[in-house]
Amino acid sequence: MDIYEAVKTRKSVRSYQSREVPDDVLTRILDAARLAPSANNFQEWRFVVARDPKTRHSIAQAACRQTFVGEAPVVLACCAKDSRHVMTCGQPSYPIDAAIAIDHITLCAAAEGLGTCWIGAFYEDEVKQILGIPSGIRVVALLPLGYPQDPQPVRKLRLSLERIVSYDSWKLE
Ligand SMILES: Cc1cc2nc3c(=O)[nH]c(=O)nc-3n(C[C@H](O)[C@H](O)[C@H](O)COP(=O)(O)O)c2cc1C
Repeated sequence: MDIYEAVKTRKSVRSYQSREVPDDVLTRILDAARLAPSANNFQEWRFVVARDPKTRHSIAQAACRQTFVGEAPVVLACCAKDSRHVMTCGQPSYPIDAAIAIDHITLCAAAEGLGTCWIGAFYEDEVKQILGIPSGIRVVALLPLGYPQDPQPVRKLRLSLERIVSYDSWKLE
């Protein structure tokens, strides 16, 4: 699958088969995160792979009881080791760097026939406690990963290019 096809087919999956994700596939996907770019090449991202059913269930509870999260055979806690660096542009680099790595994961997962769903609705303290993540580490996102239950058509509800792009100066609403 080429990169444009992966971008087009990736969608949020909220229903998963119990079928395991093979280790080699999981490793390939995680390696795609490892290869992501980051500010100053800091590579602050860290990933905790939750596969134990009880742990996944607890994580789903901490994710505002989004039960589908725990139904995926793998839940990734996508973390940042150091959250202090702020770029000259004023933006902290850690959530941006983590987001790029996470997007590598979602796209490569799609290319492998796997589904993901970015989860931002979760209580960080609870997730950290469940997974034994030290206090200084930030959890940027949770990502269930597994084979989709029902292959549903991809529906992309997105603004048009005209609404989001202008050339040479800001001519946008
Ligand atoms: C930062 C972020 C946080 C999100 N949090 C959740 C979430 O907690 N639960 C959920 O079901 N989907 C969540 N989503 C998925 C979005 O709802 C979804 O990406 C969006 O509706 C577009 O649909 P698509 O991913 O199928 O293209 C989140 C997505 C992002 C990027």
